Amino acid sequence: MLSQFLYISTAPTLPREELESILATSARNNPERGITGLLLFNGRNFLQLLEGEESEVAGLMERITQDPRHSGVSVLDKRPIAERACPDWAMKRVMIAESIASRREMLERDLPLELDPEVRKMIVNFAVLN
Ligand SMILES: Cc1cc2nc3c(=O)[nH]c(=O)nc-3n(C[C@H](O)[C@H](O)[C@H](O)COP(=O)(O)O)c2cc1C
Repeated sequence: MLSQFLYISTAPTLPREELESILATSARNNPERGITGLLLFNGRNFLQLLEGEESEVAGLMERITQDPRHSGVSVLDKRPIAERACPDWAMKRVMIAESIASRREMLERDLPLELDPEVRKMIVNFAVLN
C-alpha cells in the first residue's frame, strides 16, 4: 500500500552544504527504495513530503527522526494514497522565493497538481511563514 507522510522540523543553524548533502543522499537512496517526494527549507525549518510503500516510508521516517542535523520532527499528515503526487522526483527541492508576496504564486506553479488540496494548503501555509 502506498503511503504519504508530511512533516516539519527545525534546523536553525544548518550549513548550506548540509542541505546539498541531504539532497544528494536522497537522490542516491530513494530510487532503490521507491521513495519520492519534495523538500522545502526556509532557512530555519524543513517541510518534507515522502511517499512510497508504507514500510519503506515508515523506515525512512525513523532514520530521518534520528538525524542530528534537525530536531522537533512533527508529522502534519499521514495518509494512504492511490497514486504518487511526485512520481518523477527522488526528492524535489522546492525553492522558496525571497519575497513572501511571490511565494504563494510560485508554489501554486511548482507544486504537483496531483497533491490533495488539503495537503497542498498545508505546504503553502508553511512556505508563506517567515
Ligand atoms: C530534513 C531531512 C530530510 C532527509 N531526507 C532523506 C531522504 O529523503 N532520503 C534519505 O535516504 N535520507 C534522507 N535524509 C538523511 C537521513 O536522515 C540519513 O542521514 C540517511 O538516510 C543515511 O543514509 P546513508 O546511510 O546512505 O548515508 C534526510 C535528512 C534530513 C535532515
